[in-house]
Amino acid sequence: MFAMAEKLSFEAPRGMRDFYPEDMLWRNRVFDAFRAAGAAAGFEPYDACVVESYELLARKAGEEVGGQIYHFLDKSDRHLALRAEMTPTLARMVAQRQKELPLPLKWTTIAQCFRYERMTKGRKREHYQWNVDIIGEDSILAEVEVIGAAVDALRRMGLTTKDFRVHVSSRRFLGELLAASGIPAERHAQVFLALDKRGKMPDVEIAAMLKDGGLSDDDVAATFRIMGTKSCDGCAELTELFHLARIAGFADALEFDISVIRGLSYYTGIVFECFDTAGEFRAIFGGGRYDNLLTTIGGEPATAVGLGFGDVVVTELLKARLGADAVKTRAGVAVGFMFPEQRDAALALAMRLRAEGRQVDLALKPQKPKRFFAHADAHRAAKAVFIGPDDVEKGVARMKDLETREETELCLS
Ligand code: HAM
Repeated sequence: MFAMAEKLSFEAPRGMRDFYPEDMLWRNRVFDAFRAAGAAAGFEPYDACVVESYELLARKAGEEVGGQIYHFLDKSDRHLALRAEMTPTLARMVAQRQKELPLPLKWTTIAQCFRYERMTKGRKREHYQWNVDIIGEDSILAEVEVIGAAVDALRRMGLTTKDFRVHVSSRRFLGELLAASGIPAERHAQVFLALDKRGKMPDVEIAAMLKDGGLSDDDVAATFRIMGTKSCDGCAELTELFHLARIAGFADALEFDISVIRGLSYYTGIVFECFDTAGEFRAIFGGGRYDNLLTTIGGEPATAVGLGFGDVVVTELLKARLGADAVKTRAGVAVGFMFPEQRDAALALAMRLRAEGRQVDLALKPQKPKRFFAHADAHRAAKAVFIGPDDVEKGVARMKDLETREETELCLS
């Protein structure tokens, strides 16, 4: 007797996703909006490989992302990593050709990113992240164009400013407030890091982090007082941003929120994060201005502003707001045939319709009409042509609209 082979069961590793065709409908809706919004605002597409040197990624990320990097030694003992975000790679690419590239650059990409995160709603260990960045331009119009592109993408997906808010703040402004309270600039990076945890851990733990960072009790109390600031009057760049957003038509989506800090350490100016208005989901996108990233990886000084917009949260939000069936629209023509004798006519018709620019799903073998129409319906064809012996004889078939059930005649020759 042979032992029965053990049945193997493989699933995608925890936190990694498979995309079945029905999942691709959602993904395409999201990616199409990303691409259209990027193109509409004049961003040029770029791409890079998923594997980077570990050192580049670990050095440039904030502490949190740094600890989440998937990394490994290759067969030549190179320490490599899967990118956790696109920004260090973008900085590397720009630094490499900085002399030839005409600034400002407006670049966009959809990058698959990997982070070994604690799995919660909206957070996976792999996600696609749309990035839009402007490098080499310090005008506040750069922030407006970057945030405006993301708002445009959300609208193209079918959401309105009732569904989301972009919370904006400025690290520079917060730094000024902290300095005015006597907290020296060299402590600010630690303070930002601790404050970024607000809402994710109790304030007492944040206070302990601040004290560990060398702040006195008075400094900690002052820091929490500052976090109660409700207005950005006195911050010229935020006032200007709100003014320009009004002209650009998305001021209703913006809201000043001093609690937006951002976990990544490279931000230096305006920072922003987008949330759904009902507060149900994690951040939809986030970004800000980063002035020093290029120099820290050996490039020439160049200011930059950009954002990362993941596919996971927005897809959850779209399903909740538009309904799970919103992407199931009908398209294309299904062509089928009853007996082997009609196969050639069906293929010829399919080729003709494709040459006319239609999407055609041709049945691969003869079928009973019931089965053919059930298949066409399940695959959301808009129209269907089923060819039987009489049709070939007459040289005419009928194209059925699967929504209205109306039929039109179609010449087979
Ligand atoms: P981030 O805030 O770490 O920023 O990520 C940006 C967005 O990516 C988040 O708002 C979220 O939509 C998505 N995201 C991040 N991690 C995950 C995850 N584990 N699962 C699902 N979605 C996720 C950055 O990465 C910056 N590099 C963005 C940037 C570009 N700043 C300037 N330019």
